[in-house]
Amino acid sequence: MSDAAVWDEARRRIQAAYDPALVRGAGHRLADLLAGHLTALQAGDGCVLPWRRPPESVAEACRMLERGPGTDLSAESLLERFAELVTEMLRRGIHLHHPRYVGHQVPASVPVAGLFDAVGSVTNQCMAIYEMGPWATAAEWAMVQELGRAIGWQPGHFSGLVTHGGSLANFTALLTARNVTLGDAWERGLARDGPPPVMVVHADAHYCVSRSAGMLGLGTNQVLRVPLDARRRMDPNQLDEMLRGLRATGQRIVAAVACSCSTPVGAFDPLPDIADVCRRHDVWLHVDAAHGGAACLSTRHRHLVSGLERADSLVWDAHKMLFMPALCAFVFYRDTSHRFETFRQVAPYLFDPTAPALVEFDSGLRAVECTKRSAAFGLWGAWALFGPQLFADLVDVTFELGQVLYQKLLAAPDFEPVHEPQCNIVVFRHLPETLRDAPPEQLGRFQMDLRRRLIESGEFYLVSTNIDGVGALRVTIINPLTTSDHLDQLLDALRDHGRHLLAER
Ligand SMILES: Cc1ncc(COP(=O)(O)O)c(C=O)c1O
Repeated sequence: MSDAAVWDEARRRIQAAYDPALVRGAGHRLADLLAGHLTALQAGDGCVLPWRRPPESVAEACRMLERGPGTDLSAESLLERFAELVTEMLRRGIHLHHPRYVGHQVPASVPVAGLFDAVGSVTNQCMAIYEMGPWATAAEWAMVQELGRAIGWQPGHFSGLVTHGGSLANFTALLTARNVTLGDAWERGLARDGPPPVMVVHADAHYCVSRSAGMLGLGTNQVLRVPLDARRRMDPNQLDEMLRGLRATGQRIVAAVACSCSTPVGAFDPLPDIADVCRRHDVWLHVDAAHGGAACLSTRHRHLVSGLERADSLVWDAHKMLFMPALCAFVFYRDTSHRFETFRQVAPYLFDPTAPALVEFDSGLRAVECTKRSAAFGLWGAWALFGPQLFADLVDVTFELGQVLYQKLLAAPDFEPVHEPQCNIVVFRHLPETLRDAPPEQLGRFQMDLRRRLIESGEFYLVSTNIDGVGALRVTIINPLTTSDHLDQLLDALRDHGRHLLAER
């Protein structure tokens, strides 16, 4: 074949991939497949998790890649294949929109939000500099303003950004805290005379907080855990005592990290008291509000986050209780002058000195990412479409279901709640008659085995946790279409699988 013919062939193949008609056809097919999928799930059809062992799933995904030479690139064939692949994706993924999904803090997302995200993906709107993502930047800024106002701040005084997930958001905020509180750590590192700096954290803080300490060069041993009260909230008196002791010995303190709410049981810290303590000792207060920040939008539950506006920095994940597709996590600074403290670094080829006013809008100066996905389109679109009331409703309905489940557990002699829930996270244990007097390890082991058995059956998806060293079941009601009946079915399913498990032993 001549060179010209080779290039013609390559162009023909590329043209098939970029054909707008294919996008139109695929889009129509996609819309029908997604609507059918969601309709079936909302009716409670099928399983929650189509469990397969990982090697089987990987082998199947590899098999689907097999496309020999001479692949048929006709529009008809591509559409057929597209529909087959999407059907497999829908069939094999976990079904978060199934009302019996009560698992991790990953929501049954507002479906249409994913379509706004898809516009960003199909047209590849990304950020780093304003010019490359003018509308992505605008959407992100608009949401920073809305959420900042909901926290209780005045426009112009605070700043925020979106990053890829709660872990990165916490890391970003704590890096800022480190740079501000230690003065020259960005330039000189942490080596100094005297004891190394510490970070003082809620004893149940998410693991990404101590991971951040490792990444920040503080060292995970420098993470000091503040004891909790009876409801597993950070105890402000203990915090006070700890900070007083640290200040008395001249120890440098990067931040105190509180939770709104904690991951294991969803406990909301008493922020006004904690903020008072931090102010007294002149300590940066960071609040991990990845899950509970959404309570700011609910009249009924706003009291849980009272005092959040006093945090120096906080994180709030839209891909948790704002019911957005992953990932969309906000970092906020109460004092806007802190926004460029995270990275005291300029890459001149990106950040144009001829247009200094634009630098403010170049996300790359404030985010870990250089190229950054346009992660706020889903939230911006859903907010513009439905208004803020939708988000208040989602919080109210799911938090209420947490109480409904708690009442059911209290009423059932074979279940035991581990705590009184403050939100939609509920931790409990199943206590069949025969295990009433079992030692804690055996009881904990039973919860873990029971959970594995139930999720592999596909009937429900829930998670497990470990409270004071003993295994427990953990539910997050994060599908607003879950009902009280589904929660009854959950307890029945646990009883059923528990009986079989015990019979096999
Ligand atoms: C309180 C809290 N912070 C941070 C995270 C980490 O967020 P991500 O999974 O988005 O990194 C989680 C995750 O569940 C969390 O519960």
